[in-house]
Amino acid sequence: MYNKMRFNKTEYKQRNIGIWNEVAPRYHKRWASINDGPFQSTSKLVQLMKLEKGNTVLDVACGTGVVTKKIREKIGMSGYVVGVDTSVTAIKIAKKWNKLKSNLNFVNMDAEKFNFTTKFDAITCQYALFFFPNAQKALKNMKNSLKKDGKIGISVHGHKDKVPFFSNILDAIMEFIPNYIPPGAPDLDRFGTKSSLSNEVKNAGFSSVFVKDYVFKYSPGKFEDYWKNYLRYVAKPLKEKLDSLERKTREELREKVRENTIQHTKRNGIIEFPWEVLILTAKN
Ligand SMILES: C[S@@+](CC[C@H](N)C(=O)[O-])C[C@H]1O[C@@H](n2cnc3c(N)ncnc32)[C@H](O)[C@@H]1O
Repeated sequence: MYNKMRFNKTEYKQRNIGIWNEVAPRYHKRWASINDGPFQSTSKLVQLMKLEKGNTVLDVACGTGVVTKKIREKIGMSGYVVGVDTSVTAIKIAKKWNKLKSNLNFVNMDAEKFNFTTKFDAITCQYALFFFPNAQKALKNMKNSLKKDGKIGISVHGHKDKVPFFSNILDAIMEFIPNYIPPGAPDLDRFGTKSSLSNEVKNAGFSSVFVKDYVFKYSPGKFEDYWKNYLRYVAKPLKEKLDSLERKTREELREKVRENTIQHTKRNGIIEFPWEVLILTAKN
């Protein structure tokens, strides 16, 4: 059970592992494997990395391996890519999704702790830096694993106000269930501005830091689809909190979320969200 009184890094990580083991199949099917909305970033990130045939690459928090797959195709059979993630379920899917190719491997490792004897030409990390309680440790770890002239590429979601898909629901939920997110847990949009992201990476010692921002469009359908799918795809510990609400409170919450979506709803009732994504590149 998560300790509600104070933030505990180990408990937070364990909770995340549990959540990702549970949601990885749904995440892969609904999001990562479809190049829509925010996941248009997968190709953009790999493009920005300017990878070459024969490169060696590390994909940190590889999840179900969608970035890894694009990298593998780019570097060819003379290259090599390793994906690391703390979720064994995600890795299982990543292996299946990438088939058994000889130019890749997936390893169950923590971004703050991995340690390789060889150095990589490039390191990528998509939609995960904000999950690491000690992002500096993870970034320094990446730096130590890069060749002298190596580069990194990091994608993050923008600040919550620029990603209404998340905030339209979460802002309302937090009013009704203040401990919905473990108190003291690091904010998931804490690197969601150009300056916060580039400062974090500069502090870890990287140079030539450059952040590009994209605004993708994402339509979750009509409000009913948006709400229904949120409840369907949300991780179990969060679903339990939502289910514990009294019926009337739950209806009030639903109405609050609906109000939040109005500004993004077109005349035909379809919601169309802007979705800001930042992609950073930097040199060792
Ligand atoms: C939103 S997913 C992103 C996965 C993948 N990079 C993609 O773009 O689809 C976040 C991933 O971070 C992983 N993760 C969270 N904390 C981690 C940590 N400390 N070390 C390694 N992986 C971690 C989760 O297991 C999950 O697979």
